[in-house]
Amino acid sequence: MHEIIEELDRRREKARLGGGQKRIDTQHAKGKLTARERIELLLDPGSFEEWDMFVEHRCTDFGMEKQIIPGDGVVTGYGTINGRTVFVYSQDFTVFGGSLSEAHALKICKIMDQAMKVGAPVIGLNDSGGARIQEGIASLAGYAEVFQRNVDASGVIPQISMIMGPCAGGAVYSPAITDFIFMVKDTSYMFVTGPDVVKTVTHETVTHEELGGASTHTQKSGVADHAFANDVEALLYLRRFFDFLPANNTEKPPLRPTPDRCERMEMSLDTLVPDHANQPYDMQELVKKVVDEGDFFELQPDYAGNIIVGFARMEGSTVGIVANQPMVLAGCLDINASIKAARFIRFCDAFNIPLMTFIDVPGFLPGTAQELGGIIKHGAKLLYAYAEAPVPKVTVITRKAYGGAYDVMSSKHLRGDVNFAWPSAEIAVMGPKGAVEIIFRADAKDLGKIEARTEEYRKRFANPFIAGHRGFIDDVSMPHNTRMRLCRSLRMLKNKTYKGPWKKHGNIPL
Ligand code: HXC
Repeated sequence: MHEIIEELDRRREKARLGGGQKRIDTQHAKGKLTARERIELLLDPGSFEEWDMFVEHRCTDFGMEKQIIPGDGVVTGYGTINGRTVFVYSQDFTVFGGSLSEAHALKICKIMDQAMKVGAPVIGLNDSGGARIQEGIASLAGYAEVFQRNVDASGVIPQISMIMGPCAGGAVYSPAITDFIFMVKDTSYMFVTGPDVVKTVTHETVTHEELGGASTHTQKSGVADHAFANDVEALLYLRRFFDFLPANNTEKPPLRPTPDRCERMEMSLDTLVPDHANQPYDMQELVKKVVDEGDFFELQPDYAGNIIVGFARMEGSTVGIVANQPMVLAGCLDINASIKAARFIRFCDAFNIPLMTFIDVPGFLPGTAQELGGIIKHGAKLLYAYAEAPVPKVTVITRKAYGGAYDVMSSKHLRGDVNFAWPSAEIAVMGPKGAVEIIFRADAKDLGKIEARTEEYRKRFANPFIAGHRGFIDDVSMPHNTRMRLCRSLRMLKNKTYKGPWKKHGNIPL
């Protein structure tokens, strides 16, 4: 017995050392933590239950039978974050560059299967050179097994990917299917083919950072949802983020008690919207003044800034925020903003998170770039996402709600549950200037007449009352009351049920 326990200790020690002290030192020198250090920071202290520490690869090509490291480059298991169960895999770059072998893939699949059985989220800490080259097709098969499970789990349990090192080739497609991708600045990157292949095929010279660094994916491609300064910051934010989410699609997100009262008035909101219709203001201010304790976890803050998305809480319950941002492109909807918001709305809907929408939108962004880029199809994604979402939908129109964008943004006609307008709201088919230029084209040269007509249109239509007459909004609400009105609406909607027609699945315009 004594001998076997010593053997166990020895084996555990070997597994814990991964690719060896020298490679661990190199990992640290790059400013990166090891796979196990990352898990320790992410999970509640002492909660990690490791599985498959003794799994080994079975490859015998290229002398691999002499290079066997127990655990085979990925640490897997489960633990808790603030007491709630989560499954985790953490790739170990010190073992064959974290590359994915058949055995490595099976370890990931095992915890994903278990997560599905018990209805708990999966977090992947990715740091991998892609397919284990020595294993060839066995490693490709391993990737596909992971992808299939990612797809099966989509909409059933939340899946989060944290990119903490290289993520090349097959390694990017599993994160791409998960619900959220976070990155670490300067030490992580994601691409399908790296700079060397790019140079050979297209003759472009590009750095790793330009091709797939955190700045590229959070500002240009929109692939990643957020980037953090280093491993420690990333993992601590991930713990905070996790608390907004439910464990699975049959549960509600955890309730966090708050001293912030439902009746809190915010008098400063009465002067948030400027007198002049074309003057911008910061929609973030409204979001932060309305939600519990001003705590707003924004996603994709540096991408498609004309729309804001993220999580907050109202009376302790998670809500998904979608808001037009008049400070960027006047809050117009464009291709990127439509895709960004549509994906977020679908996540919230899949996981029972009510949607709170703040609207100030002059319309869809005009121009050839948008039309040729497919704004028809991409804008329709947003419309589709709102229309198919039966979760509670509460909405405030602060200023402009024009044209198609009025319809698309959680309107009453797309089964918005509670739709308020501030007195400053302008709900119409288009802005006064544009409308007059079309319907009074004959008077175009008579500036006096055009000005008078514009004023007439503004008085008649640029207000919340026409929509109010028809019941397209439920009430005109004073800005300072916004938190209270929304809290009460969400309370009323707590037990909302709605069942649409049976279908296998819809066909969202992809
Ligand atoms: C096996 C690998 C490996 C891989 C790295 N290593 N990638 N071993 N398979 N894919 C090993 C290295 O041999 C080295 O071993 C150690 O990991 C660290 O690698 P370095 O190159 O020294 O590190 P670094 O300079 O930081 O560069 C990291 C890297 C680079 C950018 C990831 O290693 C790299 O380009 N690797 C190959 C990436 C790639 O082409 N992957 C296959 C993609 S094809 P030692 O023993 O020296 O420590 C693919 C298809 C799947 O994924 C498609 C599914 C749809």
